[in-house]
Amino acid sequence: MNNDPTPDIGQKTWTDPVRLHFEDIGIQHQRLAGLMEALDLAVSTARNAAVDRQMEDLIQLVQLNFSSEEQFMLEQGYPDRKRHEIRHLRFLEWCMDLQCCGSDGRGRLTSESCDEIRVWLRNHDAADDRRCRDYYAPVALEG
Ligand SMILES: [Fe+2]
Repeated sequence: MNNDPTPDIGQKTWTDPVRLHFEDIGIQHQRLAGLMEALDLAVSTARNAAVDRQMEDLIQLVQLNFSSEEQFMLEQGYPDRKRHEIRHLRFLEWCMDLQCCGSDGRGRLTSESCDEIRVWLRNHDAADDRRCRDYYAPVALEG
């Protein structure tokens, strides 16, 4: 019997539900990359209706992705869940702000802001999301 009162914050076992979760998240991340390309193209060609549509699609997929991650972290008791969720919330608020129209009726999205979104997503995946993957699946990430 283990009488150690220290909470288990070590690495978890790689199980099928965990594997399926991270496979789903990986697919969502690939779709996000595709949507970013479409959004960038729409912005660079100044097609406002296409920009609005692509940005709406991006935000919906980001919300789905974040919701999937947050549900998983809640169910699994991930210790860094709160901080991770705050980062998600701030990013979504930023995207929604970019989606709003300025005084000229045009959206605020530019090629530069598309680059910033892409960098944020890449950095988030490489830092926060990876920390979560590493916590649950350290063996699968080796090699
Ligand atoms: Fe995340």
